[in-house]
Amino acid sequence: MLISLCQAVLVYVALLWFVRVTDGMPDPTQRDLLMRQEASRQTGGRVTLTAAEQKLDSYLRRLKEQEMSAAPFPPAVHFFKAKPLIQKSPVFKLLQKMPKGAALHIHSSSLVSAEWLVRNVTYRPRCYICFTWDNSVRFLFSERQPFPRWDCFYWQLLQTLRARIGDPTAFDNSLIQHLTLFTEDPDGEYPSQDVVWEKFEKAFIAAAGLITHAPVLRDYYYKGLEELHHDNIMYLELRSGLSRSYELDGTIHDKVWTLKTFQEVTKKFTADHPDFLGARIIISVHRALTVTEVKAAIKDAIQLQKDFPDVVAGFDMVGREDSGGTLWYFREALSLPAQLGVTLPYFFHAGETDDEGSNVDQNILDALLFNTTRIGHGFALAHHPLAKELSRKRNVAVELCPISNQVLKLVSDLRNHPAAVLMAEGHPMVISSDDPSLFGTAGLSYDFYQAFVGIGGLKANLGTLKELAVNSIRYSSLPAHLKDTGQAMWQKKWDAFISDNL
Ligand SMILES: *[C@@H]1O[C@H](CO)[C@@H](O)[C@H](O)[C@H]1NC(C)=O
Ligand SMILES: *[C@@H]1O[C@H](CO)[C@@H](O)[C@H](O)[C@H]1NC(C)=O
Ligand SMILES: [Zn+2]
Repeated sequence: MLISLCQAVLVYVALLWFVRVTDGMPDPTQRDLLMRQEASRQTGGRVTLTAAEQKLDSYLRRLKEQEMSAAPFPPAVHFFKAKPLIQKSPVFKLLQKMPKGAALHIHSSSLVSAEWLVRNVTYRPRCYICFTWDNSVRFLFSERQPFPRWDCFYWQLLQTLRARIGDPTAFDNSLIQHLTLFTEDPDGEYPSQDVVWEKFEKAFIAAAGLITHAPVLRDYYYKGLEELHHDNIMYLELRSGLSRSYELDGTIHDKVWTLKTFQEVTKKFTADHPDFLGARIIISVHRALTVTEVKAAIKDAIQLQKDFPDVVAGFDMVGREDSGGTLWYFREALSLPAQLGVTLPYFFHAGETDDEGSNVDQNILDALLFNTTRIGHGFALAHHPLAKELSRKRNVAVELCPISNQVLKLVSDLRNHPAAVLMAEGHPMVISSDDPSLFGTAGLSYDFYQAFVGIGGLKANLGTLKELAVNSIRYSSLPAHLKDTGQAMWQKKWDAFISDNL
């Protein structure tokens, strides 16, 4: 606050000065000063770069200039078309190698690539498949022929079906199509937000039968951590509904089992990869539930957090904001922790909408009123001046997921993403991927690319990247001593990254 007041005075003095002294022509020195002052406000604008970092920064800038003059410019086109272009980009390749810190906004049901689900999981024994009347697909592992359920009358053993089909590769590709949003013609196939969200929910349901099989869940989750680690990420906060998992004989495990499994797998993974810091869960429930159901879920979450304080980070409401209940609608449930005198940190999705002025649009301010720790997406934040002020003052970071916003049709050309405003003024922010398997990404590099090249434009520099990575640890739910550990681990990786790429 103080700094920006000083800046305002400086700007004012500078303007007075040039009006008095020059004859219409703005003074170049003053112009330069103003530009530098403005640049210092952006994300990373106050980061001082070492000599080595400055050298890498200049190199990165040259690469980015080349990329921006080429056509088509990847952030300007739909990600499904841009992906092969991005994969060839030298900026992207550098971002892959960069230690990016933490992934703070990923949903558990879309953590691992659909490719792995199909080519690995569906090849396991006793996997049944069924096609519903509306041509979506369901999977179920079972000892015996499953009974009709979930709109499904006719379950077939996948192994038998594959043996009968002439071209298993084409068949597998069609299964992958059911588990992602990917298509060659995104604009034709998804003419509206309604259509793309419908496919989105269908893909979730299709994956559920595979992922919630208890033995798969362990491998799935381990594989997810591997994909993040491979992309130079060192910590995860995963949103999960802790769905019940099932065994081959139909035995059902409860939420506690799922949470324990998550804890054990994380422990094993960090033992196998000492440069990985760990993972925590943000318990999430769907906003299609009733107030009573959400109340029960919050009571559960309070208990689980008490029993697993190292694992449970807090609570969130998920699902499409435009069609589910608003935070204010759930107010009775959401005020339960405060009433009971306990703390249950919130990590609300809010403002993932372009319906300005609607009830849904008020979710951002309500999220802040309920003391949210971070804001998921905050796509609408830029045009809520008061909420923006509050979130800056309270250090409530926005979790920016650019590719998600584009694929779910909030913005088409990422240069026009409203977060460009937030980045220009250095609003607290982290980058994440939301639903990597549905969008066909892995790790955070694709989203970093879009934020760095598309949203940040030429202004964004190595300082921006550094601050975004540091932010991911700073704004995580980790206790202070683990943040310090994480920060030190990250710094070591960062220094190695700089010296390896000079
Ligand atoms: C499937 O995944 C498991 C666990 O990640 C791995 O051990 C196994 O080798 C994989 N199988 C195939 C056929 O790829
Ligand atoms: C939010 O935090 C304020 C200040 O700590 C507290 O007075 C208030 O009860 C909290 N509100 C909720 C809903 O938790
Ligand atoms: Zn999300």
